[in-house]
Amino acid sequence: MSDLQIGVKEVCQACNNDRTRMMDIIQRVQARYGSVNEEAIDLIAKAVAMPRVDVESVVTFYAFFSKKPKGKVVIRLCNDIIDRLHGSARSAQAFFDDLGIGFGETTPDGMISLESVPCIGLSDQAPAALINDVPVTHLTSDAAHDIVEELKVHMDPQKLVKSFGDGKNADPLVRSMVRNNIRLPGAVIFSPCVRGEAIKKSLGISPAEVIRAVKTSRLRGRGGAGFPTGMKWEFCRAADGDKKYVLCNADEGEPGTFKDRVLLTERADRVFAGMTIAGYAIGATEGILYLRGEYAYLRAYLEDVLAKRRNDGLLGKNVTGKKGFDFDIRIQMGAGAYVCGEETALISSCEGLRGDPKNRPPFPAQKGYLGYPSVVNNVETFCCVTKIMEDGPATFNEHGTAGSSGTKLLSISGDCTTPGIYEVEFGISLGEVLKLAGAEDSIAVQVGGPSGQLVGPKDYGRKICFDDLATGGSIMTFGPKRDVLKAAHCFMEFFIEESCGYCTPCRVGNVLLKERLEKIMQGQGEPSDLDYLQNLGMTVKAASRCGLGQTSPNPILTTLANFRPQYEALVKTSQDGLKRSFELKAAVSDAEKIAGHAAAVHS
Ligand SMILES: Cc1cc2nc3c(=O)[nH]c(=O)nc-3n(C[C@H](O)[C@H](O)[C@H](O)COP(=O)(O)O)c2cc1C
Ligand code: SF4
Repeated sequence: MSDLQIGVKEVCQACNNDRTRMMDIIQRVQARYGSVNEEAIDLIAKAVAMPRVDVESVVTFYAFFSKKPKGKVVIRLCNDIIDRLHGSARSAQAFFDDLGIGFGETTPDGMISLESVPCIGLSDQAPAALINDVPVTHLTSDAAHDIVEELKVHMDPQKLVKSFGDGKNADPLVRSMVRNNIRLPGAVIFSPCVRGEAIKKSLGISPAEVIRAVKTSRLRGRGGAGFPTGMKWEFCRAADGDKKYVLCNADEGEPGTFKDRVLLTERADRVFAGMTIAGYAIGATEGILYLRGEYAYLRAYLEDVLAKRRNDGLLGKNVTGKKGFDFDIRIQMGAGAYVCGEETALISSCEGLRGDPKNRPPFPAQKGYLGYPSVVNNVETFCCVTKIMEDGPATFNEHGTAGSSGTKLLSISGDCTTPGIYEVEFGISLGEVLKLAGAEDSIAVQVGGPSGQLVGPKDYGRKICFDDLATGGSIMTFGPKRDVLKAAHCFMEFFIEESCGYCTPCRVGNVLLKERLEKIMQGQGEPSDLDYLQNLGMTVKAASRCGLGQTSPNPILTTLANFRPQYEALVKTSQDGLKRSFELKAAVSDAEKIAGHAAAVHS
């Protein structure tokens, strides 16, 4: 048998030849051989008794997997808007010059690959890159030159870390230069908490009482959509199923969001406690932490936290001595796909499939992981649960507003003096937030990441809460010299790159939107192009299957609404002097041409 045959066999056996472990199998083969080539795909398909095409479709879906060989070291330079504002192009040029390759290429000796990737969760210390799993922050062109010089000597990314960041970043199992940058610790997430206390209190009452406490706290999900957590748990508990699952969404791919990284680094015990309490409440025995591939450097540390919890009886059989309540947690690594943050796509990925979103209903609480009722919650949501069960819902309710109880973690980055993590009370105004971060001169603020909204100074009096300016945590600030249309363009590139491609409006509509925006930015636009953008944007929102497509036109729609003069200054009246109105049919026929079939468009 060849080395590849032996290796793939070993990997598949270690994963029990279980097709639902496909992500782990492919990851391990990729790590061992630098690619998952045609032969490896054949071997995996045979070992797990799965059609070859299904294995191949997983390999080709995720950015971190590759059929073509990659270098021993892969440099992934972040290309999000904040990194661009902080000069990532200069670091990119230094890498191009020193390696003699461009993005998507590997040095002729096969040693180093260079890639340009969307947000890696380090916007507060941009420009940043991942070198294999090792994060490298505050890049400059000089730093990039040094990195290449050093790598050519030892090819060991870990040796690039000369000093460690704060807190657990210095833990022997993390050893990272990343900094937490916790600028404002608040009353819930970063307040003291006694390890094990919340679980003991929860297990001392019935599951229904736990759910009632979470409902009384009025906790709403912190991942973006703000669904009431207690209600979600109640649905799941009531759903029929021999088994139930708790899934923690640590995919954190929304550009500008990095709060969950800090929570996993500094408050992992609270996250796992929240998952355990959810397990007790819904009747689950297993939890899965879906950790984005970009945070792989935290995995060994998180596994250790889990091991210690098992050791201390906080996980495993009869948790804290409670007879009949068994619960454990495993970590599922992602592999570089933003859409996997969408809960049904996340479930697909955990099942070893492409990260395709599923149709809803049924909702995960009815039919989720492997068809069993499942609860999916954000990392911060689980931290809140732990605090609620430790101190009681009334204490939690003292914070925030009527519709948005508690505090919110904000990840602030961009043109500001103190980027980082702020735990604020819901109801704080955007202007106050800008003051905290030293960004009072912002001409625009992206609230809620690219899928949120770009607002201007007239909105700085608005409140951060679910009923006004909602955000999963991302706040990106733009100073006086910035061009909001460039930001919108960058965000459209992101959505095009990250669309799973399933539905035409999202796959094709976003390309058409970006092209029309480019025409305007190049001074070739006419007034009717603004109507075109508005109407096509609304169509893409209405006709897309999942949240990615339904929010992807927001960069254009919100800049049109809030920064219209910038567009109007660029568009000119067409030569015949007529204002051409948007023609849906024409726009869709463009889309149909590209898609090769009729689009499902609702007017
Ligand atoms: C494209 C897309 C990406 C998402 N990414 C995340 C994410 O990284 N983390 C997260 O918690 N929720 C994310 N969500 C929202 C999840 O679908 C889901 O609503 C959330 O995990 C539920 O948890 P919560 O109720 O605690 O907020 C995303 C949604 C979409 C449409
Ligand atoms: S909206 Fe976009 S990301 Fe969502 S299913 Fe359709 S193509 Fe995929």
